[in-house]
Parts: sequence; structure tokens; C-alpha cells
Amino acid sequence: KFTPRIFSGIQPSGNLTLGNYLGALKRFAEKQDEGIETIYCLVDLHAITVWQDPEALKKQTREAAAAFIASGIDPARSVLFNQSQVSAHAELGWLLNCVARMGWMNRMTQWKDKAGKNAEKQSLGLFAYPSLMAADILLYHATMVPVGEDQKQHVELCRDIAAKFNHDYGVDFFPAPLPLIEGVATRVMSLRDGSKKMSKSDPSDASRINLTDDADTIAKKFRKAVTDPEPLPDSLEGLEGRAEARNLVNIYAALADKTPAEVVADYAGQGFGVFKPALADLAVSKLEPISTEMSRLMNDPAEIDRILGQGAEKADAIAQPILQKTLEIMGM
Ligand code: ADP
Ligand code: NA
Repeated sequence: KFTPRIFSGIQPSGNLTLGNYLGALKRFAEKQDEGIETIYCLVDLHAITVWQDPEALKKQTREAAAAFIASGIDPARSVLFNQSQVSAHAELGWLLNCVARMGWMNRMTQWKDKAGKNAEKQSLGLFAYPSLMAADILLYHATMVPVGEDQKQHVELCRDIAAKFNHDYGVDFFPAPLPLIEGVATRVMSLRDGSKKMSKSDPSDASRINLTDDADTIAKKFRKAVTDPEPLPDSLEGLEGRAEARNLVNIYAALADKTPAEVVADYAGQGFGVFKPALADLAVSKLEPISTEMSRLMNDPAEIDRILGQGAEKADAIAQPILQKTLEIMGM
């Protein structure tokens, strides 16, 4: 009943990382190149669930758009736009707030992690975030959502919201979108702590590779990455219980489009004194063209705004009929 359609987003909250690239951007471009209809969104309405400096947000939004384009997302073949420019997101978000349950939001691990013991002090928006994310996806009747591991629970919640809406109104209107969590880089870990995911919001800059880092910085961060003193084993089993080593192997594999087993076979018996510089060279060779293209695009903000404006028109043309139908189903 529903044609295959991909939707995904990234928050323009600054400092896009290698985790965002391998877990999201690189895969977004691959999906586009497979010929599936792809809709990609800079989710600024999500970013403002925590304070954003207005001038910085503007710049970060353009920078995130530049990162998409530099990573291979072609605005002529994918819909690339900024969430706040398509008002149907906020509107469907409200409608779904009235379908989703408080208890469901309370169970979200990202909410618990971000709010910590300070839930009372968080914005209402941060709590409702997964409901707006469900609206982002359902507004396009998207059937697949490529995300990193950390977003799996939110996509599953989106399925629950869609099912409850369909059930409450006796319709078969919203699809149950599938999270696409594929490849070896679905959870890139911090370079300083193998138990934490690499994140743009980590206060330690050394914990992550930023897409805008220069070659020296990338080499230095990999050189200083926390690892154990053992050399690389000759099979994957030898990486069990070695989270940091496994993470670096996964990053190498994802960047080289190899399997982790192939990487381990190539470097069996070598120490990190050899592996880390090789990884840094590989990362620089893949990321340098992206950061160069990003700075080129950032020199022409008007052009980025024009691309995002056109993307918003295309997105709105799909979203409006679905929003109107939702309102009609609900009696409005
Ligand atoms: P962040 O978590 O860095 O703030 P977002 O919430 O905007 O970034 O996530 C954008 C996309 O990047 C999501 O699909 C998310 O799953 C993915 N992602 C974020 N961090 C990582 C990571 N360390 N490894 C793999 N994917 C990630
Ligand atoms: Na995230």
C-alpha cells in the first residue's frame, strides 16, 4: 500500500562528527544512489529543545546543509530542507502529542540520559521530542528511516504512535516505518571512552572527529585515542572485551568499505603504533574532500539558502496533503 520512501534527519546543533557521517550522512547518500525516494531534513525544531544561540543556529543550519551536500546528497535527487520552513511538522507534531502517551515518552532512554536527575528543569519540547520526530517521519508516509543505533527506540515509538492513530480513528492511514540500522558504524564510540558514543554534544573535543577538523587534528586525535597495549589479533574474536580497539577497527572498516574481519586480517599482529596512523591517513583521505567542499559552500550562504528554500517547497508539496487528510480524519 505504501511506496518505499526514506526519511531521516540531523540536528543542526553544530560540530557534525565522524559518527554522524558514518552512521547517517554516508548512508543517506548511498540510499539516494540506490534510487529510493529520499527526504532529508535539518531538524532545527529538535535542536531548540535545548538553548541555541540564534546567530549560531543560523550558521550551524547552513553548515549542516553543506555537510549533506558535501557528503554526496544531491538536492536535485533528494529532498533536502530545513524543518522549521515546513510548518506542517509543527502542526502534525501537535496532533501526535494528543495521540502519544506520557508513559511512552517517560520510557525513552535518550530522555532519561539527557534529562538526568533534572527532568523538572528541562523544556517541555525535550520531553515531547520523540513525538515530533514521529511527525517528521509520518508526514511523508515514509516507510524506512536510516539511523544510528541510538535512534532505534524513537523509530519504534513512531511505529506505536502510527498504530495508535490508525486504531483510534479506525483507519489504515499511517505506515509503520522501519528503522534501517545497517553497516558496521551504527554506533561509533568516543575516542576517549569506549563505553560512550561519539557525540557532538560531548564536552571533550578530543573524544570526536569533527567533519571540519584539519588533517593534523585528525591525526592527533587518533594518535591519542584510548586503546589497550595489545596488538591487533588475527581474527575478530580476539577483539572481544576490547571496546576501544573494536571501535577503531569498525571506523576503519566503514571508511574503507571493508568488513571488520578484512581489516583485522590486513593488520593481524600489528600494534596501534602502525594501525592508528594508517587509520588517520584513511580518515583524512575521506574527510578532507568533504571539509573542503563544505568550506567552499559556506562561502556562498545565499546559495545554500536558495537550495534549502527549494527543498522546503518540494517537502511541503508532499506534506500538506497528508497533514490535511490527518486533520480531516480527526474531524477538523
Ligand atoms: P548527535 O547524536 O550527534 O547529537 P543527532 O541526534 O542529530 O546527532 O543524530 C543524527 C544522526 O546521526 C542519527 O541518525 C544518529 O543515530 C546518528 N548518530 C549520531 N551519533 C552517532 C554515532 N556515534 N554513531 C553512529 N551514528 C550516530
Ligand atoms: Na542522536
